[in-house]
Amino acid sequence: MSQPTILVTGGAGYIGSHTVLALQQAGYGVVVLDNLAYGHQDIAKDVLKVELVVGDTCDRPLLDNLFATRDIAAVMHFAAFTYVGESVTDPAKYYRNNFVGTLTLLEAMMAASVNKFVFSSTCATYGVPKTVPIPEDHPQDPISPYGVSKLMIEQVLKDFDSAYQFKSVRFRYFNAAGADPAGKLGEDHVPETHLIPLVLLTALGKRDSISIFGTDYPTPDGTCVRDYIHVTDLAEAHVLGLEYLLKGGETTVFNLGNGNGFSVKEVIETARQITDREIKAVECPRRPGDPPALVGSSDRAHSILGWNPKYADLNQIIAHAWNWHQKRHGNGE
Ligand SMILES: NC(=O)c1ccc[n+]([C@@H]2O[C@H](COP(=O)([O-])OP(=O)(O)OC[C@H]3O[C@@H](n4cnc5c(N)ncnc54)[C@H](O)[C@@H]3O)[C@@H](O)[C@H]2O)c1
Repeated sequence: MSQPTILVTGGAGYIGSHTVLALQQAGYGVVVLDNLAYGHQDIAKDVLKVELVVGDTCDRPLLDNLFATRDIAAVMHFAAFTYVGESVTDPAKYYRNNFVGTLTLLEAMMAASVNKFVFSSTCATYGVPKTVPIPEDHPQDPISPYGVSKLMIEQVLKDFDSAYQFKSVRFRYFNAAGADPAGKLGEDHVPETHLIPLVLLTALGKRDSISIFGTDYPTPDGTCVRDYIHVTDLAEAHVLGLEYLLKGGETTVFNLGNGNGFSVKEVIETARQITDREIKAVECPRRPGDPPALVGSSDRAHSILGWNPKYADLNQIIAHAWNWHQKRHGNGE
């Protein structure tokens, strides 16, 4: 029997595209909905060769038509705006896209009797952690409108289950990183704000230097520690989360992290070794709102989904990202 069809919103973006590949490899049919605000048409069409519907999650008639004309068993929802700083200066943009867009999608799903949903939430919903590693029952107290927009949807999903038996898996990711090990896909955000691609763009000569914000944190080398989770491992977790729901699993939440923290200086030093290039680093004052350490406990995903990250090693994460960056941007030599 052939596998069902899954609607992947934001499937032309970074994590969505890697998950489309994992779904295809697992035999699922896939339809991507992406407004291409930040996604890449060439990745969806030429690399993944997936059906791409260019449209917005806020467009209810388009969603109704999409569900009416395809036999969709479940939705994986990656579509969102993700720039934390911009969400502080322009919260309306984030509440409209991330909250209203998701609510519109959920209502269209219910009208079409599709009631299985995998949601991209974030460790940003925890705010400044009180304990590290952070478990799922850690209090959620986000410090940006981006984090709040995700937390609001988490609450909607719990209420929808109680009221409408709408089943969802909420994944709270830590820092997605790396690239498809085969080199077909990778991270290409414009503008880029994530540490590993910024370091690699510096290695390629596309940037002069990388800034280290804060060297006096209470961490082993004084720089911030983050949990980098390989994007292919994230994609695998999504397939497992989907299968959990398709088998009748209850609404729940999982952290998805590596379990190991790496400091900013460790990331830069590892990138220097892997690229064999000089990467100029500039030490700057702390940025407001950056917690010293953000590391997740993913024990629930290990025990309930049987998920085990294959690429937990920072060297592998950076090597895969470097391979992709050279292909995408030229190798700068
Ligand atoms: N990258 C990370 O480290 C990280 C960490 C935690 C959570 N997340 C979440 O994971 C998801 C994917 O993140 P990403 O890094 O792949 O981002 P991305 O920007 O690469 O992908 C998001 C995609 O969604 C599309 N999109 C945005 N709004 C849309 C809308 N209203 N309708 C249709 N398409 C829309 C964009 O064009 C883009 O292709 C997001 O929901 C993000 O909040 C990411």
